[in-house]
Order: sequence, then structure tokens, then C-alpha cells
Amino acid sequence: MATNRDLFNLMGAISQPAVDAANREFYGKITYPWPQMTYPTYADPHCGTVFLNQELGDFTHARIQPRPRIWVAGCGSNQATLTALRFPGSEIIATDISAPSLAVCETNLAQVDAQNVTVKEQSINEADYQEEFDYIICTGVIHHNADPAIPLVRLAAALKRNGVLELAVYNYYHRILTTAYQKAMRYLFMEDPEIDLDQQLEVTRDLMETFPVENTMSFYLKQEKHQSREYLADSFLQPVEHSYTVESLVALLHTAGLEIILPCVYVFDKSGRMNWHLEFANEVAARHYENLPDVARWQISNLLMVERSPSLVFYVQRKNSSIRRKSEREVCEEFLNTRFARYSTVIKNYVGGNGNYQFSATPIPHPSPRVPVDQTARSIFKEVSHDKTIREVLETLDLKPTFALVNNARIQLTTPHFPYLKAVQRT
Ligand SMILES: C[S@@+](CC[C@H](N)C(=O)[O-])C[C@H]1O[C@@H](n2cnc3c(N)ncnc32)[C@H](O)[C@@H]1O
Repeated sequence: MATNRDLFNLMGAISQPAVDAANREFYGKITYPWPQMTYPTYADPHCGTVFLNQELGDFTHARIQPRPRIWVAGCGSNQATLTALRFPGSEIIATDISAPSLAVCETNLAQVDAQNVTVKEQSINEADYQEEFDYIICTGVIHHNADPAIPLVRLAAALKRNGVLELAVYNYYHRILTTAYQKAMRYLFMEDPEIDLDQQLEVTRDLMETFPVENTMSFYLKQEKHQSREYLADSFLQPVEHSYTVESLVALLHTAGLEIILPCVYVFDKSGRMNWHLEFANEVAARHYENLPDVARWQISNLLMVERSPSLVFYVQRKNSSIRRKSEREVCEEFLNTRFARYSTVIKNYVGGNGNYQFSATPIPHPSPRVPVDQTARSIFKEVSHDKTIREVLETLDLKPTFALVNNARIQLTTPHFPYLKAVQRT
């Protein structure tokens, strides 16, 4: 068993097997994340792939086929079940190094009657898949490894040539306080091999009330005091964590022969931001910013939005993919030139908690709310008809198709979190 001194030492010359062991132990004590209250099932079995394709900038819905092979790498306790229900036609492999998380996962998969998932205890660092997957989901995992480049290379090798990786890593500007706190705790307890995770959590909860100075750290700790055990352990007592900016993430991806396709909308962001675009009132700043390639713009946004910048969640592909990466601006042009119909389906939920989910036959409209909250998106949504392109819709509404407006409308109307419009295929 790893002692606190071992964990502390891991921050120096760290070896991947030692970090895998530390993570196995940590995520053996907390199964992450906390239990889902609901697991949704979709009446339309294609809802998952259609809106994933649209978020990837493919309004023909062809890139991810209706029966994709998916790897949920570092699935934790919930993600395999959510993915199985979101993509009912898929064949899924879900892996993690935490046996207790996988046990929760298997119980819940059985309860929601998902039969398209194979669960496997395995470190990404030991996985040897070669060009097998259309879609890989790996969120919140590689940044807990000794050298995130090592699992990333495994993920890249496992992608089919035109496959897509959904990757989430910590945003440096979101982690300054948690990383500092974690490091302080490793030092604090490094000489005490006896202290366990729950005792460290108890100290943390107490420091939330009795911190020795008043500063941003004490303010942050106080804010988090009602969070769950899993959340607190993951935020404040992680054995290992790395964090990135857009720039350093792109450099990391480069080492594995990968490139960003587009940002993935992440609605649970504490920053409240889902969109990387900044609107400068200063004309010179705006002109220079808008003329830059995507990665440079997102990096500027990351630097200037600091703690309010979005989470680093991106769709990624192999650089040798035969599908050429389109810029955000090109995707917006395609969005403008496409015809859409209003979309709706229903979901029915499994409701409960771990080991105790019951199917509820009550149909819930999806998307919900039925009309977009964003005002501009709502007016476009109301005006859409299958014989008008979005450009024509904007003309009818007398809206100028600026990049900011079009990109925001694309995000707020056509993506998995906002599935309001489905592209109409030309025949
Ligand atoms: C913060 S949780 C994220 C879980 C899930 N991906 C999600 O987004 O809900 C990190 C998970 O990664 C797993 N993990 C860490 N390193 C891993 C590795 N090398 N291989 C497989 N799983 C790993 C942990 O056991 C834990 O379940």
C-alpha cells in the first residue's frame, strides 16, 4: 500500500506503474463520480450519433456511424452506463483501474439492462488496442497519470484512422488552488504512514471552517464545504494531477500525432462558459483576434478569461486522418448553408441510486426546455423550416451572420446538449 511519503515522492521522479498503483488505491477508496440520480434512455436510438456528428461539424451525420465501436477509457462508476444508453447501437469496451468503480458500473449496467458493454479492469497504460475504435471517451483521466503523454499514445493507437477521441484534461487556471492544496496536504502528511484518506478528508473539512489565514484559499475551501466525499477527495486529495492551457494541450497532442477538431460543449462548467469565443469591443483587437487560426484564438481566450475560461474538453483526431480538419469558421459556413428541421424525441429515465434504479415510464420531452433559452437561438429555432438554409433564416430575421453570432447559434442549437435542430439531408 502506498504511504503518504510514497505519494509525496511520486511528485518528484514518478514512475507510471507507481502512479497506477496510487490511483488504484485512491479510486478504490472513492468510486468516482457520485451516483447518478437518473440514467436516461432515448426513444430515438440515433439521437446520440446524430448530435455527436453535428458537434463534430458533420451535418451529413456520416462521420460516426449508427453502430460505432466505443472505448470508455477510465470510465469511473457512471460513464459506461450513460454511454451505453446514449449510443444503444454501439459496442462498448469500458475500462478502469478501480475494481470498486467497475463493480458499481456492472451493477448499474445490469439494472438498466444495457447489454452492449464489456467491462474490463485495465490501465490505459497497459492497453494494446490498435486502430479499433470509432470513438473514444477519456475524460478526467490522463491528467492523473505520471506522464499523460504515455496513456495518450495508447489512446491514439487505439483510434481508427478516422476515429474521434473526446478528451478532457484540467484547465490550469481552474486548478491553481486545488493543486496547491493537494501539494500542501502531501507535505503535511508525508511523515505519517498511518493517516488514511478519511482522516485527511476530516482535516480538510475542518480547515474549511478554521483556515489559519483569510485569502482566496480560505474563500474557496469555504465555498466547497457542502460537497460530497467523492468530490472533496477528487478535488483536494488527489495523489497526482497535471493541468494544461490550450497551448500546452496542443503540444501534448502533437507528441501523440493528434490534433484538435473542435471544442466539446461542457455544460457543467463552473466557469459558466461554453464558448471559447471572446467578443472584443476594441476594433483592432477584434480584427486581429478573429483573423487568427482556431488554436491561437482559443489560447488567447484561455489567457484572458483565466478562471472563467471553459474546461479543456475537445474532440481530437489523428493528424493522418483522411478527414481534413475544418476550422471553426468553415464549420460555421457549412452550418449557414445547411437546412434544418426542429428536432424532438422523448427520454424515459431509470431513477434511483447505485444498485437501486427503477424504470420510470413517464416520457420527458428532449430537448428540455422545448425551446432554446438563448434569445437569438430561440428566434432562429422558431423561424427554421426545412426549405430554408440558416443563412436564409438569418436574412428573414434581419440578423447579420457575424462569426460570433453564427458560432453561438450553432452551439446553442445543434449539439448534444442543445439538440434543437437536426440537419435535413438533401436527396
Ligand atoms: C476523475 S475520474 C473520471 C471518471 C470518468 N471518466 C468520468 O468522467 O466520469 C478518473 C478515473 O480514471 C481512472 N484512472 C486513472 N488512471 C487510469 C489509468 N491509467 N487507466 C485506467 N483508468 C485510470 C480512475 O480509476 C478513475 O475512475
